Formats: sequence, C-alpha cells, structure tokens
Amino acid sequence: MDDISLYRYFLKDSIRKNIDFRSSDQHRGVPVPPAQEPADPSLPRIDLPDIRSFSKAVPEMDLKAAIAGRKSRRRFSGAPLTLEELAFLLWATQGRREPARPTPHFRTVPSAGARHSFETYLYIQQVETLAMGLYRYLPLSHQLVVQATLKAGSRKELSDAVFGQHFVADSSVVFVWTTVAYRMEWRYLQAAHRVILLDAGHVCQNLYLACEAIGAGTCAIAAYDQEAMDALLQVDGEEQFTVYLAPVGRVKSSASGDRG
Ligand SMILES: Cc1cc2nc3c(=O)[nH]c(=O)nc-3n(C[C@H](O)[C@H](O)[C@H](O)COP(=O)(O)O)c2cc1C
Repeated sequence: MDDISLYRYFLKDSIRKNIDFRSSDQHRGVPVPPAQEPADPSLPRIDLPDIRSFSKAVPEMDLKAAIAGRKSRRRFSGAPLTLEELAFLLWATQGRREPARPTPHFRTVPSAGARHSFETYLYIQQVETLAMGLYRYLPLSHQLVVQATLKAGSRKELSDAVFGQHFVADSSVVFVWTTVAYRMEWRYLQAAHRVILLDAGHVCQNLYLACEAIGAGTCAIAAYDQEAMDALLQVDGEEQFTVYLAPVGRVKSSASGDRG
C-alpha cells in the first residue's frame, strides 16, 4: 500500500473485516472504562444551570432557521456570554439526554456504540460570573471543574497553538475536544479511530446550531499544533489528546468578515 492509500484506508471500514473482535478488552471482560475522566477532588467545581431553566435564558428558535443561518463566524464582539448560555452550549454538545436515568451513555449527540470518548475543555475569557481560566465539563453531573487559572501570556500561547488564527484567542470561550481513545478502543480496537472523528463532527455541528439560537457564532478548527494544544490543556498526548476545537463568541456583525 503506498502512502496515500494507507491514509485512505483509514477512511474506509474495510479494516473491520481484519479485526478479531474477540480480542477486544470488552470481549475479554476488562471492566468498561469510566465515561468521564475523574476530576481531582481538590479542584473547585461549579454547578451549571439546569436544562429546565434554559427556556428563560435561551430563546426558542426554529430549527429550519438555525440550519439556514449556520455559518462559520470568525469576528466576535467581545460581549460576554452568560453562564446559562454556556450551560446550554455544553448540554447541546455533550449533555446527557436523560439526566434522571443512571446511564451516562445517552447524550444530545450520537456516538458509535454510545462510547462517547470525548472530554470538553473550555478556555474561558468572557463568561459572566466565571473567572478567566481553563475549565473542563463534567457531563455526568452537569458541572464545570476549574482546571487552572490563566497566566499572563496564555492568550499568546493559545494563538500560537492554532498557528496564529488570532480570532480563536479573540473569542469568549474556546471549546476544545480531546478524545480518551481507549473508551472507543475497548470495544472497537483498530476500528475505533475512524468513528472517533465521525463522532466529533456531530458534536461540533450541534455547537454551530446551538450558537445560532443565542446570537453567538463559532468556527470549527482542525488546524492546530497538536503538541502545543495538548500541553495547554495539560493532557498527556497519548491516552488523551486534542481532536477538534471551536471558538465561540457573540457575533459582531452578521454581514461581513466571515470567509467561506
Ligand atoms: C473539519 C473542519 C475543519 C476546519 N478547520 C478550520 C480551521 O482550522 N480554520 C478555519 O478558519 N476554518 C476551519 N473550518 C471552517 C471551514 O473553513 C468552513 O466550514 C468552510 O469554509 C465553509 O464555510 P461555512 O462553515 O460558513 O459554511 C473547518 C471546518 C471543518 C468542518
């Protein structure tokens, strides 16, 4: 197989026929990995507004209008988001569909085998009542955990980590999705990686549409410096690493400045 064929092979599901799924950790009886990375109990947590309160904070929006209006936005006004709006975006991208039930597997987005391999990190600059910092979403309890405060120079670090796409650092909050690949590999072995990236598309599309509903905008970002971004999030880059990100901010003007 030449080099380009090898990469195309990754896009195909042919690989499934060559995998002995009886050797998967799931089949061998290895316990299911946690649906969410444990949070250091010494780190502060923030309870997010309940989805039942969204009706007050988030106006109703026609789905057709949200789909028709969706576009990649790269100009942000700098006006802060509210905590309710952030909670809505988190619920729309990784939230539990049936929070009253004990299962963590059903979310507002689909996932191959309901494995949900993502963690959501938030680089927050302008959200009302939240200090600037690096946060992580805990979907099981609908909370934020404060991972770190932002140091002087961290904005430049962020900008560098996206190869100078400065609009990312000009946003109110950057959603960064990492994968804990083993959550998917536990069941799918070498067939895991293709579906991890398919899963990511659903997550970001929900973010696009949810942003439309609150007068905000986003832009999917797949061009980033892998090692720099992982270092920024303080993840190990092996068991857990960045796969996708998206800056969110209030939209400056609906007219211009957004290429594409
Ligand atoms: C997988 C993916 C990766 C992307 N990466 C970037 C990126 O790194 N930088 C950027 O400015 N836009 C990025 N975009 C946004 C595209 O440029 C944009 O979707 C495209 O130009 C079409 O514009 P529209 O989203 O407004 O329809 C990405 C979009 C997708 C789906």
